[in-house]
Amino acid sequence: MLDRPDVKARSLADLPPVESDSLLALIALAAADPRAEKIDVGVGVYRDGAGRTPILQVIKQAERRLVDTQVSKSYLGSAGDKRFAELLRPILLGEHAYDERILGVQTPGGTGAVRLGMELIATANPDARVFVGTPTWPNHPPMIRASGLEIVEYSYYERAQSIVRFDAMMEALSTGRPGDVALLHGCCHNPTGADLDHEQWAKVTRLIVERELIPFVDIAYQGFGLGLSEDAHGLRGILSACDEVVIAQSCDKNFSVYRDRVGSLFLKTGSREASETAMAHVYQRAREMWSMPPDHGAAAVHIILEDDQLRAQWHVELAEMRDRINSVRRRIASAHPRLAFIGGQYGMFSMLPISKEQVLGLRENYGIYMADSGRFNVVGMSDEQIDRFIEAVAECLDG
Ligand code: LMR
Repeated sequence: MLDRPDVKARSLADLPPVESDSLLALIALAAADPRAEKIDVGVGVYRDGAGRTPILQVIKQAERRLVDTQVSKSYLGSAGDKRFAELLRPILLGEHAYDERILGVQTPGGTGAVRLGMELIATANPDARVFVGTPTWPNHPPMIRASGLEIVEYSYYERAQSIVRFDAMMEALSTGRPGDVALLHGCCHNPTGADLDHEQWAKVTRLIVERELIPFVDIAYQGFGLGLSEDAHGLRGILSACDEVVIAQSCDKNFSVYRDRVGSLFLKTGSREASETAMAHVYQRAREMWSMPPDHGAAAVHIILEDDQLRAQWHVELAEMRDRINSVRRRIASAHPRLAFIGGQYGMFSMLPISKEQVLGLRENYGIYMADSGRFNVVGMSDEQIDRFIEAVAECLDG
């Protein structure tokens, strides 16, 4: 795909160079570094104390059961595994799980859900503008543009003080027109780790209702912050207040099935009938883009969520991941006064208050790989790498 819409290529040979996705490029850079002591805190993948991304025990068990019991790999259709989406409802929607105006569909990861949701918005209202707080996940803007929608950026985060620029967010959203979209990170903000507090969620929700905006909640890290329900607090408040909501959800992180691409798109409209019509458009867009989602990972998640014992085991393994994230956060936060903010943030990411040059210096001198923005994955490093990471960063901050 062209990433410069101004350049019109007439043949494949005329295609301009593509600036590759910064996070994917970082994976390759870190992998190519021959230094044994390198520290990869770039891409958002959970690693345990030993620096591994193990397959959850519960996934292994579900996969074994899948191999033993699956009788066919015949097509399921554009909706994928319908029962999978049903089983996610209580986890994601909480008290709204029984709201028949909310419908869900399986997607290839959270990315597929975001793209599909944006396609739906563009189908309904091509003039809708999408309000995006920056910085955001680098793949958000290209996906929004690829769906033909206009982006309105506002500044979400004050780097110098490591806080949400809440007034700027409210000011920007208050310029929204009815039908415009507010893209919100459900929890564990990527890339800053700075989430809205309960009061801020309530204010944003009121403003969205007042301006008749459509909230689009991207929730890719549910369970990595404070807990499954706690992390869905903002989303559930939105569902209580708004008639039209789009939700892009991911199981890739909280079930640790990254490459299997497991996610879902949920939507709510004012009536069951309108939601069914909207969902028919979703199936059509999905058919055009990927026909049907990959089955394997979702089938394993389906088995886990349908079985009380496996579901309980998943909760335990998810809590282990969350506990490590929060304990590494506390350790880093206590190491230097300018890193204290990290203890009050959530999820895998925080953004260091350092320049791009300093990020590149850490890369060159210490083999520490983080995004150019200063975003780093707090659980990208093993336990034994943490002190070295802190020392190198502290030198940067004090230098
Ligand atoms: C990240 O932000 O590192 C993850 O969401 C992985 C990705 O696809 O970019």
